[in-house]
Amino acid sequence: MKIHKIGIIMNGVTGRMGTNQHLIRSILAIMKQGGVKVSDDEIIMPDPILTGRNLDKVKALAEKHGVARYSDDLDKALADPANQIFFDSSGTLQRAGFIEKAVKAKKAIYCEKPTAVETKEAMRLYKLCADAGLKNGVVQDKLWLPGMRKIQMLKEQGFFGEIMSVRGEFGYWVFEGFVGDQQAQRPSWNYRAEDGGGMVVDMHCHWRYVIDNLFGNVKSVSSYQATHIPQRVDEKGKTYPCTADDSAYATFLLENGIVCHFNSSWNVRVRRDDLFTMQVDGTKGTAVCGLRKCWVQHASATPRPTWNPDIDQPIDFYAGWTEVPDATNYDNAFKIQWEMFLRHVVLNEPFRWSLKEGAKGVQLAELSAVSHKERKWVDVPAL
Ligand SMILES: NC(=O)c1ccc[n+]([C@@H]2O[C@H](COP(=O)([O-])OP(=O)(O)OC[C@H]3O[C@@H](n4cnc5c(N)ncnc54)[C@H](O)[C@@H]3O)[C@@H](O)[C@H]2O)c1
Repeated sequence: MKIHKIGIIMNGVTGRMGTNQHLIRSILAIMKQGGVKVSDDEIIMPDPILTGRNLDKVKALAEKHGVARYSDDLDKALADPANQIFFDSSGTLQRAGFIEKAVKAKKAIYCEKPTAVETKEAMRLYKLCADAGLKNGVVQDKLWLPGMRKIQMLKEQGFFGEIMSVRGEFGYWVFEGFVGDQQAQRPSWNYRAEDGGGMVVDMHCHWRYVIDNLFGNVKSVSSYQATHIPQRVDEKGKTYPCTADDSAYATFLLENGIVCHFNSSWNVRVRRDDLFTMQVDGTKGTAVCGLRKCWVQHASATPRPTWNPDIDQPIDFYAGWTEVPDATNYDNAFKIQWEMFLRHVVLNEPFRWSLKEGAKGVQLAELSAVSHKERKWVDVPAL
């Protein structure tokens, strides 16, 4: 058996995303399954080293999950040639400094989104990697969610006819933290602009790659954002002012004429199928997906509603939909992309989701904020 052992520096991995999605659900899961199988006699086996500022924290995390290597000395980890990949899931505003160091050390770079909060900075980071000839990638996990893959499958099958519009509804209630039994369930930095927080910079990055990959290139944006909740309570129980937007209401017009409208909010109560739902309306059929499930209604099954507010609605609209069955075993979305990145680094296989794609997400977020501020449609130029 030929084993490609590949050292991966996992930086900032004690955080929410780093621990759950990248360490436990991706890298440890890949190790547990016996590596990424390349052929009957060849595998890629990750060998992670957890790095962070606080040695006690990384040590505790490493020991809890049986990871042999951990350190608070990032420079030393970068100097070790066995570590071929540098991965970062620390704070958005910390990212640039870490990527610069890793580029100098000639590592392949993989990181969480957003890669920065400004397009110029995101493109600078991409160019740093490209000019140094380093492989690079950004997390674009939503593309591998079962719900999205079912939409992609329906598209490939020609189910929709001509797609006319897409409606994304993202959100749920994030507790403010003022009530003892209703603690906030997201880190407080998300609600402070000075710490890289904000709905637009967070979610419009996701919407950019979802839309670009599934429906077509974004041509222009009209967006309105708000900070509906002015104060929240942080991890230490201290009340802080919310300086970042917590909601965004945006329309994206694509080059091919498809209209996409996405609402994103941490201040909505859910009465829909999932925390994110996306409805795709085509001339021949409509599909609605959640994170995992997807329902369709073909033109032939479309009911004939008539407007009559004097009687209770006679049509059970939910009854007219058919669930799309799972077509395969859907693995964790982050893990699928990790496996592709590992194959890219070791086997030179193509990998589309570079830091340039990450910069496109940052660009859409930045231009959404411009649209909001100037109260106008803003074109999205090619990067
Ligand atoms: N792909 C997704 O769906 C998704 C979802 C949520 C967050 N994210 C992104 O992931 C990143 C982390 O978000 P999170 O929700 O896990 O936040 P978090 O606050 O839980 O984690 C951030 C981690 O970075 C560490 N950190 C901060 N400064 C550091 C430094 N100077 N050196 C080393 N470590 C440092 C913190 O200790 C913490 O462990 C953010 O960029 C965020 O935008 C992506």
